[in-house]
Amino acid sequence: MAPVKNICCIGAGYVGKVNNKKKKKLHTKLKKKGGPTCAVIAYKCHDIKVTICDINAQRIEAWMSDKLPIYEPGLDEVVFSRRGKNLFFSTDVDKHIQEADLIFVSVNTPTKKNGLGAGMAADLAYVEAATRRIAQVSTSSKIVVEKSTVPCRTAESMRAILEANCSANVNFDILSNPEFLAEGTAISDLFNPDRVLIGSLQTESGKAAQQMLADVYAHWIPRENIITTNLWSSELSKLAANALLAQRISSINALSAVCEATGADVDEVAYACGRDTRIGSKFLKASVGFGGSCFQKDILNLVYLSTQLNLPEVAEYWKQVYTMNEYQKNRFVRNIISTLFNTITNKKIAVLGFAFKKDTGDTRESAAITLIKSFMEENARVAIYDPKVEAEQIYMDLTEPGVVDNRKQVEKSIEICGSAYEAAKDADALVVVTEWDEFRTLDYNQIYKDMHKPAFVFDGRLMLDAPKLRDIGFKVHVIGKNP
Ligand code: NAD
Ligand code: UGA
Repeated sequence: MAPVKNICCIGAGYVGKVNNKKKKKLHTKLKKKGGPTCAVIAYKCHDIKVTICDINAQRIEAWMSDKLPIYEPGLDEVVFSRRGKNLFFSTDVDKHIQEADLIFVSVNTPTKKNGLGAGMAADLAYVEAATRRIAQVSTSSKIVVEKSTVPCRTAESMRAILEANCSANVNFDILSNPEFLAEGTAISDLFNPDRVLIGSLQTESGKAAQQMLADVYAHWIPRENIITTNLWSSELSKLAANALLAQRISSINALSAVCEATGADVDEVAYACGRDTRIGSKFLKASVGFGGSCFQKDILNLVYLSTQLNLPEVAEYWKQVYTMNEYQKNRFVRNIISTLFNTITNKKIAVLGFAFKKDTGDTRESAAITLIKSFMEENARVAIYDPKVEAEQIYMDLTEPGVVDNRKQVEKSIEICGSAYEAAKDADALVVVTEWDEFRTLDYNQIYKDMHKPAFVFDGRLMLDAPKLRDIGFKVHVIGKNP
């Protein structure tokens, strides 16, 4: 087989939950998949033409502009250096499907909102639509790569659709090549991945296709870091990896509650346990709860898959990772209310950080949304500051169905501030939700002077210098630590 020369990526990374009316204003919700992954392939493989396609013209326009649609360290350099050379963006999906030898299907797979499996199962409608399009317009054989995160055996459905709808003499090989990058570190994750995973059918042509995709990655990734498996192992490994990572966070968060009740310090416990090389130190930072678009979605997806496979004990086991995350957020809110003398009505709560983690403007499933919803339900006034999240994004998140759903009420209850100082002015409590570095170096003497007394700090990220804050006069509460 000839080496891959022309790649088409379907899906330029955009979050489905923003409606069309709002899309005009917002670019911050674009996600990282189709865009950064394929941009890095173009950056590392000058002999391959890469075209990233999307049916959403505004998304494509943004990718072609000077201000890229997402904030991700290092992304500008990658895109600007290859755009117009071997990296292109287009809305002409059909044309680029036809021209490509290899197609990444990188469309959204959100949690289903209605029907069977609502609230748990992945909605595969976008994957199916993209697959049908490939079958309908292809005039030559192709390698089709499942890049979206999907339930195990989705590739089988894709194959059935492709085979039933293709033209004569057109063959498709299907690969699974899940993405493991994390937001905020996407470019370094893509330059230096722990591993690349490629699953294929164990047929001669499946293995040949697997080798061709491996050759693309081998332009910059050592061969020993490119793992090849069967299709189903690859699909399941993606759900499993996210479930295992999230499980570590839920485990340390469960222990944080025990720490608070006993006087143990969760950072010390995590350090002591993480020094055991069998356990390892990563993903053991206690927090107000994990956010982001994928952990919750993929765990629920795994729970649903296990239920469908008639494995209720397995489903229950993984469900607990999600349940613990909800518990941690609620526990944090309850602690704030009880500490503020059991009422926050009309009190001003300053929320520092709205993104689901630092170094990203992404707010999907951010713990901040759950927390602020609870504060509003208690009739508090909420002042929010985040260095990267735009005001309109915050209003959109807080007016999603199931959050507050009433723009006027949200506008009345919250204030979006241009700095942490502005948010803290006259506040009763400072609540750290996102671990932005700048929160470490604020002038806390000034903040203390400006706040109501007693001035409370609730550190949901275990990042502030609590003894120093106590010396200033703050009453400090830190997750997993009992002062
Ligand atoms: P997204 O919603 O941000 O973007 C998907 C894009 O696909 C949208 O712009 C949409 O317009 C486009 N699209 C949908 N159907 C199309 C079609 N038929 N033709 C052309 N374009 C079409 O989704 P995303 O966040 O980029 O995620 C994509 C997948 O990657 C998901 O399965 C997700 O779970 C997975 N994933 C994401 C990350 C990450 O961003 N951190 C990491 C690993 C895996
Ligand atoms: C995660 C995985 O890390 C990626 O490997 C995966 O590709 C991606 O999901 C995906 O499938 O989309 P991401 O969600 O971007 O990446 O970010 P993480 O760094 O994993 O953080 C997720 C959440 O967990 C954040 O809210 C973060 O603050 C929280 N977290 C993380 C903790 O509370 N404690 C930790 O020790 C680590």
